[in-house]
Amino acid sequence: MAISIVTICGSVRPGNYTAKALQLVLDEFAKMPDVEVTPVYLEALELPLPGLAAARPEAIEVFQKTVKEATGVLLASPEYHGGISSPMKLAIDNLGFPSMLADKPVQLLGVAAGVIGAIKSTEQLRAICAHVGAIPLPMTVSVAKVQQVFDGEGNCLDAEMEKLIRRTAHNLVEYIQDTICHKISLEEILRGESGA
Ligand SMILES: Cc1cc2nc3c(=O)[nH]c(=O)nc-3n(C[C@H](O)[C@H](O)[C@H](O)COP(=O)(O)O)c2cc1C
Repeated sequence: MAISIVTICGSVRPGNYTAKALQLVLDEFAKMPDVEVTPVYLEALELPLPGLAAARPEAIEVFQKTVKEATGVLLASPEYHGGISSPMKLAIDNLGFPSMLADKPVQLLGVAAGVIGAIKSTEQLRAICAHVGAIPLPMTVSVAKVQQVFDGEGNCLDAEMEKLIRRTAHNLVEYIQDTICHKISLEEILRGESGA
């Protein structure tokens, strides 16, 4: 079974560090056969505030459909004022009610300038994901002092942190392989669709 992953970058700042951390995860996904990835960068979507009309409704429809059809999702959020970024919250608010995230395994990655890291934003994201019926995975990676971890070109200067960030890709795919793929195969067998 092909695994489709959607990644969402919660920062829209030009040159943002969340995208630099996320790039390592995307690089790791790219090494995995049978894994297709759709990276979503929110600045391209012109997301409307909740209740207002979308400037580009077709882009929101594609965004919702992509998440709905994904096997798993990776949310990468910067820590802004002790919480998740407003673009990340707006993205989740634009994923419908009930949410397209429902029943999806979600890997969390947080990025912060400060010394305590993205503890508050990843905990908030975990609560929001659980609230909309998603399955936030236990392992979360929080990058502290990110301006010392990456240089301006996106090179990671901390080998241990790089390993942890890359690990998020494997954590999500392994969860999917160990749970969702088995469940789907079992359903196929029960429906007599296995060809056996
Ligand atoms: C509006 C705003 C609020 C921020 N608040 C925090 C904060 O509470 N804690 C912290 O460690 N860093 C904070 N930062 C710094 C970001 O964590 C930092 O820019 C980091 O690089 C991740 O964000 P980025 O992906 O947009 O670069 C804030 C940045 C912005 C723009």
